Amino acid sequence: MKIVMLGAPGAGKGTQAKMIAEQYGIPHVSTGDIFRMNIKNGTELGKEAKTYMDKGELVPDELTVRILLDRVAQEDCKNGYVLDGFPRTIPQAEVLDAELTKLGDAIDYAINVDVPDENIIRRMSGRRACVSCGATYHIVHIPPKKEGICDKCGAELILRDDDKEETVKNRLNIYHAQTQPLIDFYTNKGVLKTVDGTVDSAEVFAAIKVILG
Ligand code: AP5
Ligand code: MG
Repeated sequence: MKIVMLGAPGAGKGTQAKMIAEQYGIPHVSTGDIFRMNIKNGTELGKEAKTYMDKGELVPDELTVRILLDRVAQEDCKNGYVLDGFPRTIPQAEVLDAELTKLGDAIDYAINVDVPDENIIRRMSGRRACVSCGATYHIVHIPPKKEGICDKCGAELILRDDDKEETVKNRLNIYHAQTQPLIDFYTNKGVLKTVDGTVDSAEVFAAIKVILG
């Protein structure tokens, strides 16, 4: 099963993608997490990506596509995957589509987690992310068992550099201009499913399970 998660920054793509990955036994592939891991490890890729991410801008398509295609070519992705944060532009979606077509394959579901902009700004300031495994929490809605510590791996939880209010607003503008058109792209392919992302994360997941079966 090949799934694409769509939705604004902070809509809950990562939260839901992790649950899908666990439930259906497929890898969770997040380009944002791959970039953040590279930043943490001080790689050249990380240094380049950081210059865009800190401003809330998109990393150039060419670089992002290369990283993503490398990742999905790995052995653990052969029975499917859930993509979180990719594609984010029409050119990225077209490259993915062309690569899958070559393999006689296609995306099965594009799940659009729908959350209005007003809710997003409130959510982001409460988000905490694990520096090590990328798990995300919310200080009010989805708190870790122990404050500041990841439930899954015990590493430190931090506020992401790009979760400051001004940067979030920029990310939202870029989302509406460049990423939202993917809703039409996947509607035209007949695979778009929209879920209400404003409800509790367990309820969002219940709606997704109805779609995926
Ligand atoms: P990325 O890491 O993908 O960030 P994003 O899309 O902005 O999305 P977020 O991770 O911020 O939000 P999310 O939807 O995953 O929400 P989450 O589950 O954490 O990308 C970061 C940057 O990398 C980009 O800005 C860009 O620079 C670059 N990049 C990455 N991919 C790229 C690409 N393909 N092309 C170009 N550049 C790329 O939830 C948010 C918060 O809400 C959390 O605190 C969570 O606990 C809470 N929450 C979740 N669900 C609920 C709920 N139902 N109710 C209440 N709270 C909830
Ligand atoms: Mg995310």
